[in-house]
Amino acid sequence: MRVAVFASGSGSNFEAIAKSDELRNLGLEIELLVCDQPQAHVLKRAEKYHIPVFVNRLADYPDRNDYEQAIVDKLKTLKIEYVLLAGYMKVVTKTLLGAYPNRIINIHPSLLPKFSGLEAIERAFAAGDEVTGVTIHYIDEGVDTGPVIKQCKVVRLRNDTEANLEARIHQTEHQMYRQVILDLLNKNNEVAK
Ligand code: GAR
Repeated sequence: MRVAVFASGSGSNFEAIAKSDELRNLGLEIELLVCDQPQAHVLKRAEKYHIPVFVNRLADYPDRNDYEQAIVDKLKTLKIEYVLLAGYMKVVTKTLLGAYPNRIINIHPSLLPKFSGLEAIERAFAAGDEVTGVTIHYIDEGVDTGPVIKQCKVVRLRNDTEANLEARIHQTEHQMYRQVILDLLNKNNEVAK
Protein backbone atom coordinates (compact mmCIF):
# COMPACT_ATOMS: atom_id res chain seq x y z
CA MET A 1 0.00 0.00 0.00
CA ARG A 2 1.63 3.19 -1.21
CA VAL A 3 0.95 6.18 1.05
CA ALA A 4 1.97 9.80 1.49
CA VAL A 5 2.02 11.32 4.96
CA PHE A 6 1.22 15.04 5.31
CA ALA A 7 2.59 16.99 8.29
CA SER A 8 3.29 20.58 9.29
CA GLY A 9 5.10 20.39 12.61
CA SER A 10 7.00 18.11 14.93
CA GLY A 11 6.06 14.85 13.25
CA SER A 12 5.84 12.46 16.19
CA ASN A 13 2.90 10.71 14.51
CA PHE A 14 4.83 10.53 11.26
CA GLU A 15 7.73 8.89 13.07
CA ALA A 16 5.46 6.44 14.92
CA ILE A 17 4.26 5.21 11.51
CA ALA A 18 7.65 5.37 9.77
CA LYS A 19 9.51 3.36 12.41
CA SER A 20 7.02 0.49 12.59
CA ASP A 21 8.51 -2.74 11.21
CA GLU A 22 5.13 -4.40 11.64
CA LEU A 23 3.49 -1.95 9.22
CA ARG A 24 6.34 -2.23 6.74
CA ASN A 25 6.24 -6.02 6.85
CA LEU A 26 2.53 -5.95 6.09
CA GLY A 27 3.15 -3.85 2.99
CA LEU A 28 3.10 -0.20 4.06
CA GLU A 29 5.27 1.92 1.78
CA ILE A 30 5.67 5.57 2.79
CA GLU A 31 6.64 7.01 -0.56
CA LEU A 32 6.53 10.67 0.41
CA LEU A 33 6.25 13.22 3.20
CA VAL A 34 4.33 16.31 2.12
CA CYS A 35 5.14 19.33 4.30
CA ASP A 36 3.94 22.92 4.01
CA GLN A 37 6.45 24.37 6.52
CA PRO A 38 10.08 24.47 5.35
CA GLN A 39 11.40 24.71 8.93
CA ALA A 40 9.29 21.89 10.40
CA HIS A 41 11.05 19.30 12.57
CA VAL A 42 9.24 16.52 10.72
CA LEU A 43 11.64 17.07 7.80
CA LYS A 44 14.54 15.91 9.98
CA ARG A 45 12.58 12.82 10.95
CA ALA A 46 11.97 12.03 7.26
CA GLU A 47 15.70 12.28 6.59
CA LYS A 48 16.37 9.80 9.40
CA TYR A 49 14.07 7.24 7.73
CA HIS A 50 15.24 8.09 4.18
CA ILE A 51 11.74 9.11 3.14
CA PRO A 52 11.57 11.61 0.24
CA VAL A 53 9.95 14.96 1.04
CA PHE A 54 7.88 17.40 -0.97
CA VAL A 55 8.03 20.81 0.67
CA ASN A 56 5.24 22.87 -0.80
CA ARG A 57 4.21 26.30 0.49
CA LEU A 58 0.76 27.74 -0.14
CA ALA A 59 2.37 31.21 -0.35
CA ASP A 60 4.25 30.14 -3.49
CA TYR A 61 1.05 29.64 -5.50
CA PRO A 62 -1.56 32.09 -6.80
CA ASP A 63 -4.32 30.19 -4.99
CA ARG A 64 -5.16 27.08 -2.97
CA ASN A 65 -6.34 25.16 -6.00
CA ASP A 66 -2.94 25.48 -7.71
CA TYR A 67 -1.22 24.61 -4.43
CA GLU A 68 -3.25 21.41 -4.03
CA GLN A 69 -2.98 20.55 -7.73
CA ALA A 70 0.82 20.54 -7.43
CA ILE A 71 0.46 18.06 -4.57
CA VAL A 72 -2.00 15.89 -6.50
CA ASP A 73 0.35 15.80 -9.52
CA LYS A 74 3.19 14.65 -7.29
CA LEU A 75 1.01 11.99 -5.59
CA LYS A 76 -0.22 10.64 -8.92
CA THR A 77 3.33 10.43 -10.31
CA LEU A 78 4.24 8.28 -7.31
CA LYS A 79 1.05 6.20 -7.62
CA ILE A 80 -0.01 7.05 -4.07
CA GLU A 81 -3.11 5.15 -2.93
CA TYR A 82 -3.80 6.68 0.50
CA VAL A 83 -3.05 10.00 2.18
CA LEU A 84 -2.41 10.05 5.93
CA LEU A 85 -2.70 13.45 7.59
CA ALA A 86 -0.50 13.59 10.69
CA GLY A 87 -0.59 17.10 12.08
CA TYR A 88 -1.16 18.73 8.68
CA MET A 89 -2.48 22.15 9.64
CA LYS A 90 -4.14 23.15 6.37
CA VAL A 91 -7.75 22.67 5.38
CA VAL A 92 -8.02 20.18 2.53
CA THR A 93 -10.28 21.29 -0.30
CA LYS A 94 -11.95 19.86 -3.42
CA THR A 95 -8.83 19.45 -5.53
CA LEU A 96 -7.18 16.97 -3.18
CA LEU A 97 -10.42 15.43 -1.93
CA GLY A 98 -11.63 14.84 -5.49
CA ALA A 99 -8.39 13.05 -6.37
CA TYR A 100 -8.53 10.82 -3.27
CA PRO A 101 -12.20 10.29 -2.31
CA ASN A 102 -12.51 8.26 0.92
CA ARG A 103 -8.77 7.78 0.91
CA ILE A 104 -7.61 10.64 3.10
CA ILE A 105 -7.34 9.87 6.81
CA ASN A 106 -6.84 12.45 9.57
CA ILE A 107 -5.90 12.23 13.24
CA HIS A 108 -7.16 14.80 15.72
CA PRO A 109 -6.43 15.13 19.46
CA SER A 110 -9.99 15.34 20.79
CA LEU A 111 -13.23 13.41 20.84
CA LEU A 112 -14.68 14.99 17.72
CA PRO A 113 -16.95 16.82 17.14
CA LYS A 114 -15.70 18.48 20.32
CA PHE A 115 -12.72 20.81 19.94
CA SER A 116 -12.24 20.59 16.19
CA GLY A 117 -9.66 22.98 14.72
CA LEU A 118 -6.51 24.34 16.30
CA GLU A 119 -5.24 23.86 19.88
CA ALA A 120 -7.68 21.09 20.71
CA ILE A 121 -5.70 19.78 23.70
CA GLU A 122 -5.28 23.23 25.24
CA ARG A 123 -8.99 23.98 24.85
CA ALA A 124 -10.08 20.63 26.36
CA PHE A 125 -7.73 21.22 29.31
CA ALA A 126 -8.95 24.79 29.81
CA ALA A 127 -12.55 23.59 29.70
CA GLY A 128 -11.75 21.21 32.58
CA ASP A 129 -13.11 18.17 30.72
CA GLU A 130 -12.48 14.99 32.72
CA VAL A 131 -12.40 12.90 29.59
CA THR A 132 -10.92 13.88 26.27
CA GLY A 133 -9.33 11.70 23.59
CA VAL A 134 -8.29 11.09 20.02
CA THR A 135 -10.25 10.64 16.79
CA ILE A 136 -9.11 9.11 13.51
CA HIS A 137 -11.45 9.72 10.60
CA TYR A 138 -11.82 9.98 6.83
CA ILE A 139 -11.99 13.63 5.93
CA ASP A 140 -14.59 15.62 4.06
CA GLU A 141 -14.59 19.32 3.21
CA GLY A 142 -15.07 20.52 6.80
CA VAL A 143 -12.48 21.20 9.48
CA ASP A 144 -11.82 17.88 11.26
CA THR A 145 -15.09 16.38 10.04
CA GLY A 146 -15.95 13.16 8.16
CA PRO A 147 -16.72 9.51 8.95
CA VAL A 148 -15.06 8.30 12.16
CA ILE A 149 -12.82 5.22 11.92
CA LYS A 150 -11.78 5.01 15.57
CA GLN A 151 -12.10 7.07 18.75
CA CYS A 152 -10.34 6.47 22.07
CA LYS A 153 -10.82 8.24 25.36
CA VAL A 154 -8.00 9.73 27.42
CA VAL A 155 -8.89 10.46 31.05
CA ARG A 156 -7.57 13.58 32.73
CA LEU A 157 -5.98 12.58 36.02
CA ARG A 158 -6.51 14.63 39.15
CA ASN A 159 -3.06 16.25 39.19
CA ASP A 160 -2.56 16.39 35.45
CA THR A 161 -0.78 19.40 33.99
CA GLU A 162 -1.56 20.27 30.40
CA ALA A 163 1.86 18.86 29.44
CA ASN A 164 1.15 15.47 31.10
CA LEU A 165 -2.21 15.22 29.44
CA GLU A 166 -0.74 16.17 26.09
CA ALA A 167 1.98 13.51 26.42
CA ARG A 168 -0.63 10.79 27.10
CA ILE A 169 -2.76 11.98 24.20
CA HIS A 170 0.24 11.76 21.88
CA GLN A 171 1.03 8.25 23.14
CA THR A 172 -2.56 7.25 22.43
CA GLU A 173 -2.36 8.84 18.98
CA HIS A 174 0.75 6.88 18.04
CA GLN A 175 -0.78 3.54 19.08
CA MET A 176 -4.11 4.32 17.44
CA TYR A 177 -2.67 5.47 14.12
CA ARG A 178 -0.55 2.32 13.88
CA GLN A 179 -3.61 0.16 14.65
CA VAL A 180 -5.82 1.91 12.10
CA ILE A 181 -3.17 1.52 9.39
CA LEU A 182 -2.67 -2.11 10.39
CA ASP A 183 -6.42 -2.74 9.96
CA LEU A 184 -6.38 -1.01 6.59
CA LEU A 185 -3.40 -3.08 5.42
CA ASN A 186 -5.07 -6.29 6.56
CA LYS A 187 -8.27 -5.32 4.75
CA ASN A 188 -6.40 -4.46 1.56
CA ASN A 189 -4.36 -7.65 1.77
CA GLU A 190 -7.60 -9.68 2.12
CA VAL A 191 -9.10 -8.02 -0.97
CA ALA A 192 -5.92 -8.68 -2.95
CA LYS A 193 -6.03 -12.45 -2.19
C1 GAR B 1 -1.30 15.80 16.69
O1 GAR B 1 -1.76 15.91 18.03
C2 GAR B 1 -2.48 15.72 15.74
O2 GAR B 1 -3.56 15.02 16.25
C3 GAR B 1 -2.80 17.17 15.55
O3 GAR B 1 -1.54 17.78 15.42
C4 GAR B 1 -0.61 17.09 16.27
C5 GAR B 1 0.65 16.83 15.48
O4 GAR B 1 1.64 16.29 16.32
N1 GAR B 1 -3.65 17.38 14.42
C6 GAR B 1 -4.62 18.29 14.39
O5 GAR B 1 -4.85 19.06 15.32
C7 GAR B 1 -5.47 18.30 13.13
N2 GAR B 1 -6.53 19.21 13.25
P1 GAR B 1 2.94 15.61 15.67
O6 GAR B 1 3.50 16.63 14.67
O7 GAR B 1 3.87 15.40 16.81
O8 GAR B 1 2.53 14.34 14.98
